[in-house]
Amino acid sequence: MSLPPTNFRPPFDITRASHLVLTARDLAKSRDFYTEVVGLKVSDETATTIHLRGVEERAHHSLTLKRTKEEPACERVGFRVFEEEDLEKAKAHFDRNGISAKFVNVPFQGRTLHASDAAGTPLEFCARMKTLPRTQTRTHEHKGAGALRLDHFQVLAPDVAAAAAFYIGLGFRVSDYYVAGERIIGAFLHRKDNPHDIVFLARSGPRFHHFGYIVPEMHHVVRALDCAGNLGFGESLEHGPGRHGHGHSYYVYLRDPDGHRLELLLPAVQIIDIDDEPMRYEVTGDNTNLWGLPPPRGWFEEASPLMGAKVTAPDRQGEPLTLEKYLFAKGPEAARPELVKKRA
Ligand SMILES: [Fe+2]
Repeated sequence: MSLPPTNFRPPFDITRASHLVLTARDLAKSRDFYTEVVGLKVSDETATTIHLRGVEERAHHSLTLKRTKEEPACERVGFRVFEEEDLEKAKAHFDRNGISAKFVNVPFQGRTLHASDAAGTPLEFCARMKTLPRTQTRTHEHKGAGALRLDHFQVLAPDVAAAAAFYIGLGFRVSDYYVAGERIIGAFLHRKDNPHDIVFLARSGPRFHHFGYIVPEMHHVVRALDCAGNLGFGESLEHGPGRHGHGHSYYVYLRDPDGHRLELLLPAVQIIDIDDEPMRYEVTGDNTNLWGLPPPRGWFEEASPLMGAKVTAPDRQGEPLTLEKYLFAKGPEAARPELVKKRA
């Protein structure tokens, strides 16, 4: 099975993954996490909503946190289109294809169009957003990881081929894809010049797996983890630091106070040229971390609900190499380090 070729003349012009909306039960705690550990700047806040941006971002917000008393969820995943005119083209495209789409008002954003993708992920598109000064050179103000900018989203979906085909039809290119036998079980899709704006992996879904912020250097990752440890967020470290098996970047995965997962990553490889074609990987059940421990079971199985989306399971579940299996396979000494200590 293969993926369709990219539509290089898409019906409207999406430029990048740009923002998302999450709900949170304790806004003060989430504010601490995102400002002190991740290093985002607060652009605006009320009793019920906080808008945040990376230090390099002129756009008013890349992350919106809304207070909830319900189960925390990802309310919407946002993309930029190039011009206002692209929003009209997007609406016409969705109407032609029987996809429900409507214009809405969103604070600090220009005209905004809501729709959903083939997997059921709630999306929004806008061309404009209020701008604020970049603060990347105000190093003395930076906190935690000093995260620069939002980079990508990862969504779990039962049918990765169908989810990817939706975006490929909208002009997304495939940087990498994973196959298991005849099934496509992972797809990295991009509009900007790196491997990912949105990534799909085969699991029950649609569910929101993580979002990634770029940090400048590895010591920013270490600094984020130090801040997390000192501020009572030590348990938020879920996996890493490590290096992705297909070499895009270095990473660490954290869980915020509501369990939403985010990745801090160094700038990923560049992909621009037409002959930089999709890379196909056979999934063999090997460690996906090039030089460290594989992700824990929870990384593969847990994800945030996507608001209003109906979750279905794939035909077959994968059998990834989890940290738990990896340690068990190494024997009791590896799985229970206290045994080693006793013997020493
Ligand atoms: Fe990622």
